[in-house]
Amino acid sequence: MTVVEDRRTADALGSVSSGNALELRGVSKLFGALAAISDVTLTVRSGERRAVLGSNGAGKTTLFNCVTGDFLPTSGTIRLFGEDVTRFPAYERIRRGLRRTYQISLLFNGLTVADNVYLACRGVSRGRFSFLRPTANDALLTRSDELIAAVHLTDWRDTSVANLSYGQQRQLEIALALAGAPRIILFDEPAAGLSPTERAELVAILNGLPGHIGYIIIEHDMDVALRVAESVTMMHNGRIFKEGTPEEIENDPEVQELYLGGGDE
Ligand SMILES: Nc1ncnc2c1ncn2[C@@H]1O[C@H](COP(=O)(O)OP(=O)(O)OP(=O)(O)O)[C@@H](O)[C@H]1O
Ligand SMILES: [Mg+2]
Repeated sequence: MTVVEDRRTADALGSVSSGNALELRGVSKLFGALAAISDVTLTVRSGERRAVLGSNGAGKTTLFNCVTGDFLPTSGTIRLFGEDVTRFPAYERIRRGLRRTYQISLLFNGLTVADNVYLACRGVSRGRFSFLRPTANDALLTRSDELIAAVHLTDWRDTSVANLSYGQQRQLEIALALAGAPRIILFDEPAAGLSPTERAELVAILNGLPGHIGYIIIEHDMDVALRVAESVTMMHNGRIFKEGTPEEIENDPEVQELYLGGGDE
């Protein structure tokens, strides 16, 4: 089943919410004289799954940092689920359902898979912090196990992070991003450094996420992007260069010239 067919099934089940998840208008971010992103205007619907492609230094991670609140944009506006969050701190955006993963791993290495996911669930829950050991009927434990299953790590739930393969660590990061009630997740190159088998696993995990959770995935590998995204934004030199379906982007002569034809990658 293609991503689009998958989405139609999700639509029929009523699990895709309406409206826009994200609206960027004329967003720029300068570092001194360098424009890391320039005049980026972009709309992502609720539940939409979009890939962002572009060569090294194109501005992809900077775009994510502006959306999450890690960086304040130099100019432009950012709306999240209809609300202007341009100057909101990161935690206010997280409260509204925004999550991200990083290009570099940020896991607790000494803890098990289950502990990492439990702490992430605990962190976003409204309950008071407690040093008491969780009890077996704790709803957060049930939720943690659901998330561990969603990223195909059930057999490793009691394994410490240090003993996971690199690919499994990336899967665990997805589980952490799923904690709470995410409505849109930004994935920064989750497939980087993965083996072909691990890539296939990642594709299956992303395609298995609930239909109401949209995402933007930064991805260099067009084969992965084609299988996990219904729309593609190509960036070049900090600007949006092309937008379209994966097929349109793949067959676009200018894209082939710039990106797929070897270019500066
Ligand atoms: N904190 C920063 N300070 C100064 N310059 C930065 C900073 N972050 C990014 N840049 C510059 O902004 C430009 C865009 O970088 P960015 O990391 O957004 O690119 P990218 O598309 O994510 O690249 P890659 O594919 O290598 O991850 C680059 O020229 C980079 O050197
Ligand atoms: Mg990057």
